[in-house]
Amino acid sequence: MRKLIIANWKMNPSSLEEARVLVQSVEHRFHFLGPKVSVAICPPTIFIPALSHFVHRAILGAQNLCFAESGAFTGEVSAKQLLLFGVQIAILGHSERRLNFGEDDEMVNNKIKVCLKNKIEPVVCLGGDPKAKMSGMKKIVLKQFNAAVTDLDEKQVSKIIWTYEPFWAISTMKNSKPETGEHAAKMIGYLRGLLAKKIGKTLAKNTLILYGGSVNKSNVHEFAKFPEIDGALVGAASLNADNFWEVIKEFNRESVHKA
Ligand code: PGA
Repeated sequence: MRKLIIANWKMNPSSLEEARVLVQSVEHRFHFLGPKVSVAICPPTIFIPALSHFVHRAILGAQNLCFAESGAFTGEVSAKQLLLFGVQIAILGHSERRLNFGEDDEMVNNKIKVCLKNKIEPVVCLGGDPKAKMSGMKKIVLKQFNAAVTDLDEKQVSKIIWTYEPFWAISTMKNSKPETGEHAAKMIGYLRGLLAKKIGKTLAKNTLILYGGSVNKSNVHEFAKFPEIDGALVGAASLNADNFWEVIKEFNRESVHKA
């Protein structure tokens, strides 16, 4: 079973030197990983050009990009500009972008299209809605999923990586509360069902669907033990090389045991 673990550093760390040390201290352990586990690192955009020289085995990712290909978009960065520095994936529709920067469903859909056109793999987050309660998550995921795949054909949809990330489980959210592995696995199963209707069972089975929200070395087993969960989007814990490595190791162990 293929697994993917993504580090979402958000607006951290505060210096390039710290960023370089963090990348290198995770990267030098990669030779322990099995062939089915990939790790992506998504630093702040400003660090991407410099870090592209130090990221060798990991996938270099962006935390955001512009919905337009070029033009007058002050403060934005385009897919083509990111490609110049080897960016291969981009996180889209993250809760923090939906809540703080007005990233709506239509924007996410347009960003997915820009990514696919430029051969950057979109990592689309579902679950970022402040009105969402645990019991209402299916409705939110359905709405955001339908909007995300608008005007995309089967082949395009099959290239998307999905993350179920309920906003209330993100460690830094006000009143953050933990998601359970069981509920996360259920939601991922639900999402895979939606995908199967859209692109067929086989492609849906081969699509990566990750879980995000407070995953760290102490709770990773609770999520990694469910075969439905293909990996994790990790925020706070990815800023500490040892903590992040334990998360990677747990998914690696599961990928080997349940291969
Ligand atoms: P967290 O962040 O692991 O700190 O909860 C995850 C994310 O927001 O992607």
